[in-house]
Amino acid sequence: MKVLYVCTELFPFLKTGGLADVSAGLAPALQAVGCEVRLLLPAFPAIANQALSTRPIASLPAGPMPWGPAPVLPPAGLTLATLPGLELPVYLVQAPALYDRPGNPYLGPDGKDWSDNAIRFAALGWAGATLGQGLDPHWRPDVIHCHDWHSGLTPTYVRAFAAAKQATPATVFTIHNLAYQGLFAAAEVTRLGLPKSWFDIDGFEFFGKVSFMKAALRYADRITTVSPTYAREISSEAQGCGLDGLLRERANSLSGILNGVDDLIWNPATDALLPAPYDEHKLQGKTLAKRALQTKFGLEPRADALVFGAVSRLTEQKGLHLLPQVLADMVQRGGQLALLGQGDVALERAFVDAAIRYPGQVGVRIGYDEVTAHAVIAGADVILVPSEFEPCGLTQLYGLRYGTLPLVRRVGGLADTVVDCTLENLDEGSATGFVFDELSPAGLLSAVRRAFVLFRRPDEWLAVQQRGMGLRFDWLASAQHYLAMYQTLRPGAK
Ligand code: ADP
Ligand code: GLC
Repeated sequence: MKVLYVCTELFPFLKTGGLADVSAGLAPALQAVGCEVRLLLPAFPAIANQALSTRPIASLPAGPMPWGPAPVLPPAGLTLATLPGLELPVYLVQAPALYDRPGNPYLGPDGKDWSDNAIRFAALGWAGATLGQGLDPHWRPDVIHCHDWHSGLTPTYVRAFAAAKQATPATVFTIHNLAYQGLFAAAEVTRLGLPKSWFDIDGFEFFGKVSFMKAALRYADRITTVSPTYAREISSEAQGCGLDGLLRERANSLSGILNGVDDLIWNPATDALLPAPYDEHKLQGKTLAKRALQTKFGLEPRADALVFGAVSRLTEQKGLHLLPQVLADMVQRGGQLALLGQGDVALERAFVDAAIRYPGQVGVRIGYDEVTAHAVIAGADVILVPSEFEPCGLTQLYGLRYGTLPLVRRVGGLADTVVDCTLENLDEGSATGFVFDELSPAGLLSAVRRAFVLFRRPDEWLAVQQRGMGLRFDWLASAQHYLAMYQTLRPGAK
């Protein structure tokens, strides 16, 4: 089965969050379970500059389509590239006027969305859909699997081709975060080459705007998201971001499939970024990683300090605004904090201030840094993920693998992957971390206090660590679920 994987991020070439880790882990895993996978991404400089070879395939089609005009694009073509260390071929949408810009793929240097994001990501969607119609005469997908709103127009254009009685591939759309929707002015409909009559409540119109997310949820054959609990949550008004009605309508086509962990990158037994390797049977390497982390973050090198770590985008979603309010308590109990993150400027400042207020106990790195991320995940005793909402979350999975107990809020993928250290769960041997419910400093503090209690019982702490380290969130298992879904969508199986 030929699968076209459409996305905007790919580790290690371009990453702003977990989406990049998913592309790097899932696409090869799909290949390993028997699919023939090719990726499709915009030719962002971070990717295009690393391509080892590129060969031109075609120009993106222009001119009238059966339903009206095609998207109005600057000169745009498709190339087929290879990237170092990646065995899968990658199609790149070459449109220098749209993508040849430094920095973040979505935001300009002022931190605001690029003003032409509608057409930038429509071009990606158009490339995906027209590949499905034979743009590359040598390779035509059976299934197009799209990720997040940036590729949301692919299923829409595919549906427009189908409505014009053309044979089309099946489409799957994965929601990684429903909160980012890709909303644009109604006046864009014609320029984006969308069927005008679909701009209504039963189509892709969302409160008077064009919604790339709604378009995908409306027109993809199947919708998935990255955990079973998030699939349920977004079907409710409270967390549906205005799209819960549509998601309930499509309940039979919606499912949650958990993300995995890329064992080549996140495995303490082989991680070259650690001072020494370790595993669940031999944990001395973790002690060294803790000492190295304390040194790196300017923390007092105390083995008996309970070190909390965080590696995160600093946004509302992640719940880390609760943390400054419990820091005094944490430090007074003998705890330390090592935080790596960037994002919200006020939150960045609050953490920098905290590091000044608690020298030797709170260490903060503002920025994005892969090496430091490994240092925190490995060296901390506890990894904090107190999110307001969390579609899946990867850092708690990395924490489990590294013997760093996750402390999480009971939402989304966090609820599906961490088992709380209640007395019952400790007794029956299922506990893997600390879970709390109430999104408040008091809620967070209750879990923090339980972490201190367990830390004073080293044997029990070790047992919980070892249980988490023995778990496997395997990309192959996730890929099998996706494959089973694709198979229900093969032509004739619809
Ligand atoms: P999200 O995608 O919502 O940001 P995830 O937990 O799915 O959350 O994935 C976050 C990914 O980004 C992880 O691989 C994490 O290690 C990484 N990450 C987040 N912030 C930073 C940072 N400041 N520096 C390095 N890596 C980071
Ligand atoms: C999004 C979500 C995160 C998820 C990631 C990968 O960025 O916020 O929870 O793990 O996508 O699916």
